[in-house]
Amino acid sequence: MLEVASSYSKLSISTDLSERFPVNEIDSERPKILVVDDHPSSRMTAVALLSVEGYEVMEAENGQAALDCVLDTDPDLILLDVMMPGMDGYEVCRRLKQEEQTRLIPIVFVTALNDRRARLRGIEVGGDDFLSKPFDQLELSARVKSLIRQKRLNEDLDHASKVLFSIARTIERRDPNTGDHCERLVVLGKSFGEYLRLPRIEVRDLMWGGYLHDIGKVGIPDSVLLKTGKLTSDEWNVMRQHVLIGEQICQPLRTMQGVIPIIRHHHERWDGSGYPDGLVGNAIPFLAQVFQLIDIYDALTHERPYKIAFTPKDSLDLMFQEAEKGWRNLELMQRFAEFIVQQVIAA
Ligand SMILES: [Fe+2]
Repeated sequence: MLEVASSYSKLSISTDLSERFPVNEIDSERPKILVVDDHPSSRMTAVALLSVEGYEVMEAENGQAALDCVLDTDPDLILLDVMMPGMDGYEVCRRLKQEEQTRLIPIVFVTALNDRRARLRGIEVGGDDFLSKPFDQLELSARVKSLIRQKRLNEDLDHASKVLFSIARTIERRDPNTGDHCERLVVLGKSFGEYLRLPRIEVRDLMWGGYLHDIGKVGIPDSVLLKTGKLTSDEWNVMRQHVLIGEQICQPLRTMQGVIPIIRHHHERWDGSGYPDGLVGNAIPFLAQVFQLIDIYDALTHERPYKIAFTPKDSLDLMFQEAEKGWRNLELMQRFAEFIVQQVIAA
């Protein structure tokens, strides 16, 4: 059993071959492909075609060996047979797509031509593409090249997003006022977003807003950000810049587009007296209105160096007073109060 589980192998090809072929356009590192098939003759065909293209190719003859090989070698793409004894290709795919470490590796299922059911099942378990046997060399080459390029772009985006989240956490730790404010906003954002039945992607944006809304504070000098006394009006002007700085930081990332309105507009007020744009009423992006309620509620219900923690009921009373003053969307405030009463006060 052990022998079978580790039965994958690495094929090395001469470097001069890889220099002649175009995969090097993708990245300076030669991409690695894992071919998984229980039939040696099928593996040989795929290996031969891919080696000629300049890829580093590994082979696995069953599902478990494939999972072991992925952990050891971190391939850039997997060519996966569906029907194999023991663990089938669907199960291998399902497991890899569940794991944070392996979810971005493109998986191409090798199915019989026109096997619609196999393809539907492959999509269900997270497969990225399909190829039929016998392989058409041009098609194999084009699909593999495009999926590997896409994978590397996705990895870059993933890394860039992680860098932003870690900057945001660092800022939170520098600011003695906030404690675990961001973590709590993420939890509250998810539950209030789901309570409002927002689309899944907007719930995600609200959660990301929890981490990223004040990321622009990275550009605010310590003398202002960490000042314990009252800020002067000049210092307030500096502090208000954090929403614009935050927007600039996140702007280049396409995945951040839904969070940017939260970052820029989380200090607007319903009557136009907020910043940075003095937007009035529903001109304020809806997610920014929703986020603002969560942000204020969390600040009120937790202790800060300059204030005690208010009870949920007292916090809602204060927020209603502000809403009636014209600062917030009264209808949305009503929904938020219902949510808090149901989820927090009555629980
Ligand atoms: Fe802010």
